[in-house]
Amino acid sequence: MVAPKTNEYNLIEAKPFAPNLGAEIYGVDLSQAVSDAQFAEIRDAFLTYQVLFFRDQKEIPPEQHVAFGKRFGPLHAHPAAPTMMGHPEIFEIHATKDSKIANGEFWHSDVSCDETPPLGTMLQIHIAPPCGGDTMFSDMYAAYDDLSEPIKAMLGQLSALHSSEHIYKGRYSDRGKKDTEIDCPEAVHPIVRTHPDTGRKSLFVNRTFTTKILGLSDSESEAILNLLFEHAEHINYQIRFRWNLNDMAFWDNRCCMHRAIWDYWPAERKGRRVTVKGEKPA
Ligand code: SIN
Repeated sequence: MVAPKTNEYNLIEAKPFAPNLGAEIYGVDLSQAVSDAQFAEIRDAFLTYQVLFFRDQKEIPPEQHVAFGKRFGPLHAHPAAPTMMGHPEIFEIHATKDSKIANGEFWHSDVSCDETPPLGTMLQIHIAPPCGGDTMFSDMYAAYDDLSEPIKAMLGQLSALHSSEHIYKGRYSDRGKKDTEIDCPEAVHPIVRTHPDTGRKSLFVNRTFTTKILGLSDSESEAILNLLFEHAEHINYQIRFRWNLNDMAFWDNRCCMHRAIWDYWPAERKGRRVTVKGEKPA
């Protein structure tokens, strides 16, 4: 079950970012292999705080970034995004003055349209704008916990469709990815999922990918989804992370959503993202 929030680690320092969500992690150098003992503390902190912000980092070599991701399990391959030359496991986040879109601009849990959506995502930012480019995170355990019992009972019986064609089609064409080369998966997931490691329930719908609640009329589905989106995006559940160069964030897609803010145009922002494969939500 869920571990209490604590700073009492021996090999890392975890400084809570906000009372509800997140911790800044100090005392670990991710540009090198981490020991099993340090890894165990990082994993515990990840399950406790839902999103970790590793501060004071050097640029992590791609091989090391991939190797760190694999400590948590097999990696997830993005169905549509361009990957880094020579490193197919790495998705490069990149927005410049010529970009038509920036990644992750609306609230989402990464690739929730996949049958087995990613467990977690590790993003290191290598080119940061002079200001702006923050990422927001929202606590989906708390969003679930705060629902009333009758609504929890109703949602516990419902599943929703997560689609991606409306997101991925044409999205990366300016970065050389043709629509003929991408997949646009869709999957049905329970609206309330149970975290396999903590045993806690979280709300698992998001404005980007969740398109329909099964078994309801279109108007019922739309009304309930809108209610859930607005509830899950309430400011009480959110934190807003300001990046320093080479910070690495690692978020748990099973119990938090995120949203990247593109307020820095025409400045450039670039990073490398590795995602760890998850299990079928249950
Ligand atoms: C994403 O992975 O959704 C983008 C996050 C970010 O660029 O901060």
